[in-house]
Amino acid sequence: MPSISKKGLAMPQSPIRKLVPFAEEAKKKGINVLHLNIGQPDIRTPQVALDAVKNNTIEVLAYSRTEGSDTYRTKIAAYYAKNDIHVDANEIIVTTGGSEALSFAIGSIADTDDEIIIPEPFYANYNGFSTALGVNVVPITSNLENNFALPPIEEFEKRITSKTKAILVCNPGNPTGYLYTTEEIKKLALLVKKYDIFLIADEVYREFTYDGIEHYSILQEEGLNSNAIVIDSVSKRYSMCGARIGCLVTRNKEVISTAIKFAQARLSPPTYAQIASEAALETPQKYFDDVIKEYVVRRDILIEELEKIEGVKVARPKGAFYCIAELPITDADDFAQWLLEDFRVNNETVMVAPAAGFYATPGFGKNQIRIAYVLEKESLKRAVNILKEALKSYIS
Ligand SMILES: Cc1ncc(COP(=O)(O)O)c(C=O)c1O
Repeated sequence: MPSISKKGLAMPQSPIRKLVPFAEEAKKKGINVLHLNIGQPDIRTPQVALDAVKNNTIEVLAYSRTEGSDTYRTKIAAYYAKNDIHVDANEIIVTTGGSEALSFAIGSIADTDDEIIIPEPFYANYNGFSTALGVNVVPITSNLENNFALPPIEEFEKRITSKTKAILVCNPGNPTGYLYTTEEIKKLALLVKKYDIFLIADEVYREFTYDGIEHYSILQEEGLNSNAIVIDSVSKRYSMCGARIGCLVTRNKEVISTAIKFAQARLSPPTYAQIASEAALETPQKYFDDVIKEYVVRRDILIEELEKIEGVKVARPKGAFYCIAELPITDADDFAQWLLEDFRVNNETVMVAPAAGFYATPGFGKNQIRIAYVLEKESLKRAVNILKEALKSYIS
């Protein structure tokens, strides 16, 4: 039989999706599965975005420009300006989701066997994109005990080698919910300047910050023009995961001209979805105020209920809509599969993401799960109750 590539064999499975067949099996048996495993919000997409697609009169659904349509990029620049991030339209490349922006960014700056330092636990697909591009992830472990704050900067410095091309952070964090402080971003900025490497910040959850704390973008930090690359997306901001639109933003002209070549190879981002995303920029502030209120309610219920379960430890998220919970078990993969195959309360069960896949260090996170609080509060309460009952039964 013809053989599969080493890269292909090394590609990690997504911890978020790998249990899907078990969930499908449960659903076939008529069981209601409460999905806490995936960051697919149940929030409505803004009507302006849906209407823009419904009401347009395109007769030929043509390719758009490789870097995204001019009008859309100009409006994205205006959106950033409102967020005190001052960039030009030609410093933005529209991509097919933040996912493609990540692979363009890594592909543009790192060669085979180069290294990218990432605090773990991290968004699992960073591993996938790095593996696909032959780049090695060098993890630095952050801890639940301090809510997954930035590890000491000396830990980053210790890991910098001649192969290090970038530090990659997710802010606010998936899966941790941690929101980096301005001071933490400034420390990273000093370090990347000292070693002349890139700082990539995945800011797809920028709007989702709680407790009155504001997000500080690496593009707000002065003196980082050559180093800073931001990954962005409409997926979560407007609950438009299916649009598949994101962007790469940097003031570094060489990165832009390199990333454009990757973008040319895939021709253009989706046309309809750009129309929807451009219209979504008109979404009134009230939409975000309401959504954020809703996430705060959910977070508070989730954390309060989880903390009541004996043996469960949980970090308090300040942003995004995820949290990592440590459970009194040894193998969260087995527990998550067992929940789908064998456990029900009133014909319902819960799907969670085992956290080991969010770590690059082998063996780490095996007693942790990631919970996405993307369900309304009554379902969320039922889901935590199922977890509570399940733990009793699983441990005994
Ligand atoms: C941190 C982070 N970055 C990037 C992505 C990719 O998003 P998309 O490709 O849908 O824009 C996700 C999706 O969940 C994410 O959580």
